[in-house]
This record gives sequence, structure tokens and C-alpha cells, in this order.
Amino acid sequence: MASLAIDRPTPYRAPSKMIVGGAILVGSMLLIAVVRRLNSGVPIAGVSPWLAVHLATVIPALPLGAYVMIRRKGDRLHRMLGRTWVILMIVTALASFGVRSSGHLSWIHILSLVVLVSVPRGVVMAMRGQVSKHRRVMTNVYIGLIVAGLFVFLPGRLLGSWLFG
Ligand code: HEM
Repeated sequence: MASLAIDRPTPYRAPSKMIVGGAILVGSMLLIAVVRRLNSGVPIAGVSPWLAVHLATVIPALPLGAYVMIRRKGDRLHRMLGRTWVILMIVTALASFGVRSSGHLSWIHILSLVVLVSVPRGVVMAMRGQVSKHRRVMTNVYIGLIVAGLFVFLPGRLLGSWLFG
């Protein structure tokens, strides 16, 4: 990826408390669900390779995205962590097309398409120095990540059964 156009750190702007709270909520539910599942002693079955990839990329994307949002922006570390987050989100979205809990594509796959379009757009905006547009797009993708993360804990969903089952 070519070097980004934002060369100087931009003024710090804290993310909204709703986003931070949502990230902490989904992260805690994920942690408890995984620990409960591992402690149950029952071997983990029924997790397809696509779902394994989806989880392996989305789980680190949650805290990494939060960290990128709360720390200062525009410096070398922001660019490095941001690129890592971008790759994680793209792989998460691509892998989700192999996850079909009801046997066919569902409305959440629209979110995957939105992520596949929005994340590269956000990168291009940063490269053009359109900082506020870049911030808005990436923040919206992060909100999508939290909403999708909450959705998988609904009754009847896999992580819902790990957490409450
Ligand atoms: C913390 C965030 C996330 C977690 C923990 C998570 C986890 C999961 C899990 C466990 C499933 C299997 C669903 C089930 O059978 O119950 C799933 C499905 C899916 N996820 Fe995610 N996911 C997250 C974020 C995302 C994001 C950001 C996207 C979009 C880019 C996404 C797109 C999908 C799609 C399209 C499915 C298939 C749904 C279906 O077939 O009904 N997920 N996810």
C-alpha cells in the first residue's frame, strides 16, 4: 500500500462513549462465551473453516479497532495498526460469505458487502488527506462491527448458545 498522505498527527478526538461502551460489552461477552465454551469440556464441533477464519480475524479486530480510535491519529503507528485492522476487516467480511447458518446468504451479508466497499474507500480518503471523511467512514465500519458482534449473541445463534446455553 502506498504511503498515506496524512503526514502530521491530527488533533485528538475521543470516540463517543456509546462506541467505547459497545466495544467493551461485545468484547466481554465474547471473552465469557469462549471461556465458558472451553470450560464445558465438550470438544468444539460444527465450526466450519470459514467461521474459524471469520472469528480469528474479527476477534483481534475488535480491540485493535478500539485502540486505533482512542489513541492519537495520523502518526506512523496509526498507519501501521490501521493497515492491520483493514486487512482483518476485509478477511472477516470475505470469510463471512462462507458462513451460512441458514444454508443461504442472509441480510447480514449486506454488511459484509458494505465493509468490503467502505474499508478501501476509507483508506483512499486517508491517502488523499480527507481526514474527517476517513474518520467518519472508519467509525461507521467500527459501529457495524459492534452491531454484528451483538447480533451473534441473539438466542439461537452460535455464540448465544456458548454464552447462555
Ligand atoms: C465481534 C464481532 C463479530 C463476531 C463475534 C462474529 C461472529 C460470528 C459468528 C459466531 C457467526 C456464526 C453465526 C451463527 O451461526 O450464529 C457469524 C456469522 C456471520 N457474520 Fe460475524 N461476527 C462478528 C462481526 C461480523 C462483521 C463485522 C461482519 C461483516 C463484515 C460479519 C458478518 C457475518 C455474516 C454475514 C455471517 C453469516 C450470518 C448468517 O449466515 O446468518 N460478522 N459471525
